[in-house]
Amino acid sequence: MSLIPLTSTTTSINRAAFQFHDLHPATETFRDDVLNGLAQPRKALPPKYFYDARGSELFEAICDLPEYYPTRTELAMMQASAHDMARLLGPDCLLIEYGAGSGRKTRVLIEALAPAAYVPIDISRTALQQCAAELAAAYPKVNVAAVCADYSRPMNLPVIEGITPQRRVIYFPGSTIGNFTRADALGFLRHAHALAGANGAMLAGVDLKKAPARLHAAYNDAQGVTAAFNLNLLARINRELDGNFDVAAFEHHAFYDETEGRIEMHLRSRREQSVHIAGQTFEFGNAETIHTENSCKYSVEEFQQLARDAGFTPAQCWCDAERLFSVHYLIAT
Ligand code: AVI
Repeated sequence: MSLIPLTSTTTSINRAAFQFHDLHPATETFRDDVLNGLAQPRKALPPKYFYDARGSELFEAICDLPEYYPTRTELAMMQASAHDMARLLGPDCLLIEYGAGSGRKTRVLIEALAPAAYVPIDISRTALQQCAAELAAAYPKVNVAAVCADYSRPMNLPVIEGITPQRRVIYFPGSTIGNFTRADALGFLRHAHALAGANGAMLAGVDLKKAPARLHAAYNDAQGVTAAFNLNLLARINRELDGNFDVAAFEHHAFYDETEGRIEMHLRSRREQSVHIAGQTFEFGNAETIHTENSCKYSVEEFQQLARDAGFTPAQCWCDAERLFSVHYLIAT
């Protein structure tokens, strides 16, 4: 086994200084994951590959859609309750965010909490550096220490210079936990529990179960932005892996599976066709699909049970008046 040195630097972008710790996460294997996923009897692709530059732009647009309630509901909840949350989380914490969140929810939390340090963790160096620079510039009194790592895997936090925090708090907004299967969400929460450590905590945004029609609309918007987001995965394969998908010969297919309690997104072939990618050929039957994403929905009780199974004690839960979305405060016991 080769040991990769941890690189820690102080970086300055546009004069805002932040620490940058590079844990050298395994480089993404887009090619292998695509070739392997399309070779399965039930074709599937990991949703993490949605987020190239175009996909990230489309996701931003999804967040503003009238049908896509999660983003604005969670933001309104943070605006209403961030001070209550801050009181529970306590002073001088190390606020760790899973994902490079320069989003508005993070800012609302930072302003209410005034953490000893803000530590975004992301696998994408570029997104991470941009987020760290923006937040360091916006909050000069907050120590910003960005960590380039894969937060879905077990990891240790590097030493963050210059602070003695009271506790670690992991912030994981956006219901991104819903994109894990329930089994993977449990494993992920166990890793988070280990990282939070004794007396640490987690604040997680989780989309709630609700009337299927509301969920269906959120993933089948009238303007077709979610369809474009889904189909961009094929365009990305064409751009980066020398693929020849006829994108117009596939359609977006998203539905709520009530038994599984999840939205499933697929790309459905409109006809029989062959596709060439990186020198390999894949056959598609008429109406055959590629499963591209799960978005699991939880009741408050279901999520609390999952958190307990991972070792957390659910200590508080906020919901909006329509009970569309939940934010959970979990203590690592
Ligand atoms: C990022 N994630 C929580 C979104 C979701 O709702 O599952 C991704 C998304 N897919 C389609 N619309 C939004």
